[in-house]
Amino acid sequence: MPKVLITRRWPSAVEAELQRRYELTVRDSSLSAAEWHSALNEYDAICPCVIDKITADMLTVLNPRTKIIANFGVGYNHIDLVAAAARGISVTNTPDVLTHATADLAMTLMFMLARRAGEGERQLRSHQWHGWYPTHLMGTQVTGATLGIIGMGRIGMAMAQKAHDGFGMKILYHNRKPVNESMVYAMKAEYCSDMDNLLQRSDFVAVHCPGGKNNRHMINAAALAQMQPHAFLINTARGDVVDESALVTALQQGQIAGAGLDVYENEPEVSQALLAMQNVVLLPHLGSATTATREAMGMRVVSNLDAFFSGQQLPDRVV
Ligand code: DGY
Repeated sequence: MPKVLITRRWPSAVEAELQRRYELTVRDSSLSAAEWHSALNEYDAICPCVIDKITADMLTVLNPRTKIIANFGVGYNHIDLVAAAARGISVTNTPDVLTHATADLAMTLMFMLARRAGEGERQLRSHQWHGWYPTHLMGTQVTGATLGIIGMGRIGMAMAQKAHDGFGMKILYHNRKPVNESMVYAMKAEYCSDMDNLLQRSDFVAVHCPGGKNNRHMINAAALAQMQPHAFLINTARGDVVDESALVTALQQGQIAGAGLDVYENEPEVSQALLAMQNVVLLPHLGSATTATREAMGMRVVSNLDAFFSGQQLPDRVV
């Protein structure tokens, strides 16, 4: 049986499936560089996840036994793909299966921000709610508002569809090129080749592009300055797409109305300034966190491993 290492506990149904097929080792922490070097000589496959940063110096082993890194997650900006390819290691991910869970969470953030749900709950739980009154925690109407999507991939499109079909929202999107999909035409989503144009016109801006150096700080001080003072920023993609200190300044100066974040530049650290703000909703990277989705992600990894060890084409090859 091939030897497989997973770096964290996975849903038990998936661990059981892996155990049936492979000689499985389960860790509950990231590997140091030295541990990576020995793991690369010991295991046939290593299955990391988003919090395992896999840099080039972790992959320096010549002729490693590991020939596949099967990531538990769709994003792979934490893995140095060039270094993996140079060692002849294939990398796979888990697309599609977390699209709706992540888009649902982006909708959750949008509603929590708009309707001040976090503030309201904090007020009630701290016994500061003394009854209904006409100006209490007045929020923003979502239905009919304009949603700007940055990165119209699978998750961006799913959020756009939920927002359009369910809440009559007008959809703008910014992408490298217009998306030629019937779903995008059906919702009459408007392509903005110029991101500033989208930022200037949106009531809610949701970030859905991949992380990594090409998109690092795409939402910086200049971009935030384009947004309307009543607008909200939502990020369920990767923390480094948003310049977090520029975001803090924009919020402090009232340049935007609030932010809903599921991801952070230095996860799991969260800026003290953000923690202190009432108009910010902060979640602990929960995008794909439903039982069904996490099981499906695990099973997608299993399919990639099975394909690899039976010499078939990898369903979700990244490199
Ligand atoms: C992913 O899949 O990339 C998520 O961020 C982790 O669930």
